[in-house]
Amino acid sequence: MTSDRANAYLHARVRVELPMAPYDVVVGRGLAGAFGDFLRSLEERTEKVFIVTQASLQDRAAAFVSSSGIANAHTLLIDEGEGAKSLAAVRRLYDELADGEAHRHDAVVAFGGGVVTDVAGFVASTFNRGMVLVNVPSTLLGQVDAAIGGKTGINLERGKNLVGTIYQPAAVFCDVALLETVPPEEISSGLAEVVKYGFIADPSLLDTVESHADALIGRDLDLLADVVVRCATIKARVVAEDERDSGIRALLNYGHTFAHAIERVQGYGDVRHGEAVSLGMMAAAFLASEMGLIDTSVVQRHRSVLATAGLPVAAPLDVDELEVAWRHDKKYRGGVRFVLLEKTDAGVAPVAGIEASREKIKTAIERLAG
Ligand code: GLY
Repeated sequence: MTSDRANAYLHARVRVELPMAPYDVVVGRGLAGAFGDFLRSLEERTEKVFIVTQASLQDRAAAFVSSSGIANAHTLLIDEGEGAKSLAAVRRLYDELADGEAHRHDAVVAFGGGVVTDVAGFVASTFNRGMVLVNVPSTLLGQVDAAIGGKTGINLERGKNLVGTIYQPAAVFCDVALLETVPPEEISSGLAEVVKYGFIADPSLLDTVESHADALIGRDLDLLADVVVRCATIKARVVAEDERDSGIRALLNYGHTFAHAIERVQGYGDVRHGEAVSLGMMAAAFLASEMGLIDTSVVQRHRSVLATAGLPVAAPLDVDELEVAWRHDKKYRGGVRFVLLEKTDAGVAPVAGIEASREKIKTAIERLAG
């Protein structure tokens, strides 16, 4: 623990300013000590800690918990992949928490990527009518997006994330040291969300991805920490303004209306979320250009920055299949609505709730085929 602490480096604390329960997203390297201090500092003492993780992360989770000095930690495993986001997995976790005599003030720690934070968050929000939840995201995608903002999600056969809650964690620890062993294609997948923040809120992120893609994919931890802080800051601001997802938060779904349909059509688990988001943003850019909202130079910027990040920018898709998928989407209201970019004096800005004709969608999909 001492040597871990000596090497630990706190990059920043980003505050999510929610009126009832504000919390910190702590970003740095070697954060086990800070995580342990946080749990020990809770007003209502946490007696037991339930770490929800996956077999592939079990050793890392055990090392993290042991460096944190937390005693009385129990590990609960869920399967790898999107299939783990099932009601059967939730039920198993409920039984394990009951067997472990988990009480309200005990903590559920989600240690893993988006699948783990979605499932553990859902379980923490419902077991005992709500337990303390702490997220320790182990992927770039989790650190910049999924672990912040309280969305949880369970899949049904009929669609992704059809069951879920919005339940905020008590804290999020984004330890970039956990990214050291993440494969390059997983970093690229996380970069899709970084690019999303670039287009909707902070164009300097696009420059960073374009100029430093190799270093980011090669896991330069300082650079990654900087990017995580910048993205977490945007996400924290949006979530603080619209926690319940009834307004501005929709902008975080740039590219995601296409992406969710692509994931459903191609099969969850067969396409990485970030890859689907990359294709989704390309499709959204083609659609915006078809509708005269943006110039082709913005479409070209999408292509260049996403390709530089190692992400796919073309795919053959069937518009009929996408439409079937959209009808199952929870945000479908008599039609599908998109977040699209629109030209402004200063560049581009995202606009939510845009309807598009089938013909324009079809042309955008044809252009996406390359
Ligand atoms: N990932 C989108 C949101 O949290 O609202």
